[in-house]
Amino acid sequence: MKITEALFAGSSTSISERPKQVFPEFAFIGRSNVGKSSLINMLCQRKGLALTSSKPGKTRLVNHFLINRSWYLVDLPGYGYAKMSGNEKKKLQQVIRNYINLSPDLVMLFVLIDSRHDIGQIDMDFLFELGEGQIPFAIIFTKGDKLSAKALNEQVERNKQAILEHWESLPPTFISSSESRLGREEILDYIESVLNNLNNTSAI
Ligand code: GTP
Ligand code: MG
Repeated sequence: MKITEALFAGSSTSISERPKQVFPEFAFIGRSNVGKSSLINMLCQRKGLALTSSKPGKTRLVNHFLINRSWYLVDLPGYGYAKMSGNEKKKLQQVIRNYINLSPDLVMLFVLIDSRHDIGQIDMDFLFELGEGQIPFAIIFTKGDKLSAKALNEQVERNKQAILEHWESLPPTFISSSESRLGREEILDYIESVLNNLNNTSAI
């Protein structure tokens, strides 16, 4: 899949405020600072399209980016930022849950996990919630440039096994780096295949 155009389409805190034009949505979620906004920029090859920061808690709103005038990439706030006040955390959780549970056009949620670390309880709990809500998801292990190829593969394998302790099968998984563009083609091809399936289904 080639991205020929990526446009910021609006920010919202609840689905009633989302962009009026309806298209299939692919959203990115994960712990604060895991690299959601950076990955969106990498996929679109547009530095600065989604705002990033070395400090956790940068993205506070649901941001829609219209791709090729036919589908959206959606940047979500992160969860699990320890330094945020209880009140702020609650507000962000509401924004995230409102989007994930109520958006009728969400077709796939990419859950991002830092490839350097063991998958955390907070991520596992989040995956369980998605399972209960029957929300389709895929996993992206981010920041793949930060480990050697061997260490990266070992850590990713460990995390896959940890998921398989609780799930019968693995969802689609990818490894990415916003620095080296690792995973770009695979993720975009996967999005294309999901979009093609949607089109075929709606044509029946
Ligand atoms: P919140 O919006 O706060 O939830 O964070 P986020 O998940 O959107 O993370 P963001 O994209 O803002 O990136 C956080 C930090 O990690 C920034 O300093 C990025 O430059 C860095 N980063 C993100 N992805 C990568 C990557 O693939 N490789 C490396 N080396 N750094 C990365
Ligand atoms: Mg962000």
